Amino acid sequence: MIKKFIFGKPFETEAVIAEIPTEQGAVPYFTCDTAKGIKFTLNLKKSDAVYGLGESVRGINKRGYTYSTFCADDPNHTEATRSLYGAHNFIVVEQKDRVFGAFFDCPSTVTFDVAFTKADELLITSDNTNMYVYIIDGSTVYDIIRQFRKAIGMSYVPPMWAFGYTQCRWSYLSKDEIREVVRRHRELHIPLDAVYLDIDYMERYKDFTIDEKNFSDLEGFAKEMKAEGIRLVPIIDAGVKIEEGYDVYEEGVEKGFFCTDKNGKPFEACVWPGMTHFPDFLNPEARRWFGAKYKILTDMGMEGFWNDMNEPAIFFSQNSVDKTAQMVREKASKDEFTIDDFRELQGYLGSRQNCEEDYSGFYHNTPCGRYCHKDVHNLYGYNMTRSAAEGLKEAEPDKRFLLFSRASYIGMHRYSGIWTGDNHSWWSHILAELRVLPGLNMCGFLYVGADLGGFGCECSRDLLLRWLSLGIFTPLMRNHSALGTRYQECYRFENPEDFKHIIDLRYRLIPYLYSEYMKAALNSDMYFKPLAFEFPEDEIARHTEDQLFLGNELMIAPVYTQNAVGRYVYLPEDMTAVRMAGGNLTLTEMEKGHHFVVIPENEVVFFIRKDKCIPLCKAAESTNELNTNDLELIGTGSEYLLYADDGTGFDFSNPDNLKLLKK
Ligand code: GLC
Repeated sequence: MIKKFIFGKPFETEAVIAEIPTEQGAVPYFTCDTAKGIKFTLNLKKSDAVYGLGESVRGINKRGYTYSTFCADDPNHTEATRSLYGAHNFIVVEQKDRVFGAFFDCPSTVTFDVAFTKADELLITSDNTNMYVYIIDGSTVYDIIRQFRKAIGMSYVPPMWAFGYTQCRWSYLSKDEIREVVRRHRELHIPLDAVYLDIDYMERYKDFTIDEKNFSDLEGFAKEMKAEGIRLVPIIDAGVKIEEGYDVYEEGVEKGFFCTDKNGKPFEACVWPGMTHFPDFLNPEARRWFGAKYKILTDMGMEGFWNDMNEPAIFFSQNSVDKTAQMVREKASKDEFTIDDFRELQGYLGSRQNCEEDYSGFYHNTPCGRYCHKDVHNLYGYNMTRSAAEGLKEAEPDKRFLLFSRASYIGMHRYSGIWTGDNHSWWSHILAELRVLPGLNMCGFLYVGADLGGFGCECSRDLLLRWLSLGIFTPLMRNHSALGTRYQECYRFENPEDFKHIIDLRYRLIPYLYSEYMKAALNSDMYFKPLAFEFPEDEIARHTEDQLFLGNELMIAPVYTQNAVGRYVYLPEDMTAVRMAGGNLTLTEMEKGHHFVVIPENEVVFFIRKDKCIPLCKAAESTNELNTNDLELIGTGSEYLLYADDGTGFDFSNPDNLKLLKK
């Protein structure tokens, strides 16, 4: 049962697509105060849990911190970070005598103080007094999540090949460098399905152009790679370079498709290409225009895209440049340039990236009128990605494309997946990834994954092995690293066969992972589930936040600390431990309870639930070569309901897609 309440005149975010009538009366459960901004308060007992908030730091139970949902280009994902790239305002509150969900549909910042300031209070605030609030009643946490997921529409489904292992680097600078990456993988028989093109494939970072020096005949190159079983996946950034003669820029200006400043001129800010304009993705015509451009690349054989810098990220604006110049002039004309002057300038410059003043300084031309960006900030990446998805659908209606975005809002899950942005090669980020996954699923984002090995900092061999041991279970499995860091393709490290064995296991699991993904998408279910949701009566399970269920059959418990020889695992029921060592699998029955499981860094252990079994196929070097008809069932159960389709089209409800496999 979902109830919808209205405050002020909300912007239609199209997050919820179900028709739900607006209620009169007060929002249940919360005390609401609209004297200054908007404020919802709820008393919490120590045993109450609050789940959700999608892409956010810290635990699965969100108690104990304050989170702000403001799509943020912030590469420092620490415990202190309040906002990451996505804005996902959905929570489920689980109390002794009741459980309910709440979605605050508001495109600017909403702050969730979850028993942080006051240990017994959940306080939700926003300066924006225009929002819809949805309250969802149900019998269990799952029931609420399913209702919410139905209301927001079916999650994006990628092509099946997008479950393969993929490799990225900022940047591979030429076709030859990519050839070498592919050659090394193939030579060592490390499976690989795609290589990403980061910003350097473009001509000076201009969207929908190609650097003709290093990436000439991209179409021919895509064909060459395809013959090797490799897809190319280019990046598209939000900002369009200001440059006379560049058609995307000129068309955008002529048609009025860029965001404008307060005087109605296209807003200017610096991102990778230098000074850019931002397409006005909240204008449906601009969205259509930009989305149609993806065809330039699909015509060259590109089968996937990643949309980046779409919070949007702003290094600095023209306004900041003008103000800095003025400050410098003023200070230089003084008799003495003091330390205070220096600090003031330094402080000013340091505060210019992604600053509020800039987000308040440009406007969107939407069907509901002109809106200041800051009031609709969280919809920008969402609508960029919607633009891409709609453009791709128009270009090739019967084909699934790989598409994922950095910034997001609920609603975008219907169009694409996300990756969790610029993490670091830190052990704590393995655990952070594990913990963020169920929250993302609650909000509809099923096709998700982190930069495996870590984007920033230097990656070590053991870190990559351990991270891949989690990554083999995430729908998006991509190794990516930043400019200037140590190269971290698997073959750069000693004993590459260890990496091969781990990634081989991923390929053996693909029929199962794909099947569970599709069931989650089609049934508004979660792919990753906290133990707490499956065993709400088991106090230990409720507090286990470093293990997850995957689909209906598996439990994963990856190692996320350095120099560990294994880890403690809690089994809430009897399970079968599956160990992959040197490419061989062994199965051991284990009893419910606590165990220390020895897991050397080149081995993977996962668990099959009681009376369940999963299908495994033979390993292959790319998804093209997977034989999904030759499946073996492992586990104590006797049958598994497999979902398998052609992996490329949209015939999801064909009854032939479901097959009951029996031992
Ligand atoms: C951003 C992206 C990162 C990419 C880089 C260069 O930092 O998050 O993935 O490699 O930009 O395009």
